[in-house]
Amino acid sequence: MKKISCNTYNIHINNWDAVNEYITKGNYSSIIVIVDENTFEHCLPSLAGLLLQKFDIIEIDSGEINKDLDTCKGIWETMIDFGADRHSLCINLGGGVIGDMGGFVASTFMRGMDFIQLPTTLLSQVDASVGGKLGVDFNGYKNLIGIIKNPGAVFMFTEFLDTLPEEQMRSGYAEVIKHGLIKDEDAYHRDTSINDFSDMDWEQLVYDSVLIKKNITDEDPEERGLRKILNFGHTIGHAIESHNLDTPTHLLHGEAIAIGMVMEAHLSYQQGNITESEVNHIKASIINIYGHHTDRIPDIDTLISLMSKDKKNKGGVIMFSLLDKIGVGNYNQEVSEDEILRSIEFWKKTI
Ligand code: GLY
Repeated sequence: MKKISCNTYNIHINNWDAVNEYITKGNYSSIIVIVDENTFEHCLPSLAGLLLQKFDIIEIDSGEINKDLDTCKGIWETMIDFGADRHSLCINLGGGVIGDMGGFVASTFMRGMDFIQLPTTLLSQVDASVGGKLGVDFNGYKNLIGIIKNPGAVFMFTEFLDTLPEEQMRSGYAEVIKHGLIKDEDAYHRDTSINDFSDMDWEQLVYDSVLIKKNITDEDPEERGLRKILNFGHTIGHAIESHNLDTPTHLLHGEAIAIGMVMEAHLSYQQGNITESEVNHIKASIINIYGHHTDRIPDIDTLISLMSKDKKNKGGVIMFSLLDKIGVGNYNQEVSEDEILRSIEFWKKTI
């Protein structure tokens, strides 16, 4: 059982009593739990067995494809049918889609009701549920409509990770590796020396990784500067993710970010910030966990066109978050097309 205090809320790890304490203290007029078909089956029974108050369930279809305003409309309508009001509590029981969208729906319903996050995937535990980014995709752009608003609390349970397929664990693990690369060199070496996920102290690992993220988001909640380092690997990674959407070579978010991190580490190497042996180590570590998918990278023009839609860009210039060294991220970096081309070649080269 562990607890992390953020500037406006607490994150509890493996503490069911804390959920009930939070809800009892809030004296809510009603409780709504948002789930998808997976968390309805695998996670809701644990929560339902514990909640002392009665609650209503809103089930949505899983998947990023449903993270849109149509689904929000359906949730708002159901909330009205259930008689929810601004003194109700919304519990988001799911991965990043439910956390981002459920938090957005709750924050805008009747100008805002309280919500708590119960992230059920590794990705949402170590990343999405921390720092208050909420929203939905719009017109093909990821997270285009949204707000930053912290939840009332976050409750993480590592038992939920046991219900996840291995590929989902690998996907979330990319953010764990990222946290080490941008903020903690020792964590990077520890987290990349693993050989299999079955024998890990997930409570400690989630705690360590969340602590890195929370220190960043506490210091810069609105992403004016420092928080941008969390985007390391994501400029290229998001473009690769988009390129492979709806194709047989579909990549999970973290799998695309893992390739993005190698290529952006190579950009950092080209800028003279990390050594050749360091960038080779990053590439070898990523390949060890994710494999070497050289056929997933679009050509340079497609890559640049996809990256030009990135929210971090300023005045049409693509902005990167790279590494000053292993364990220290930077942001607002411009790179040339030639440098990007060389980073593609670096990823494709056999090691
Ligand atoms: N996922 C990056 C951030 O929360 O800023």
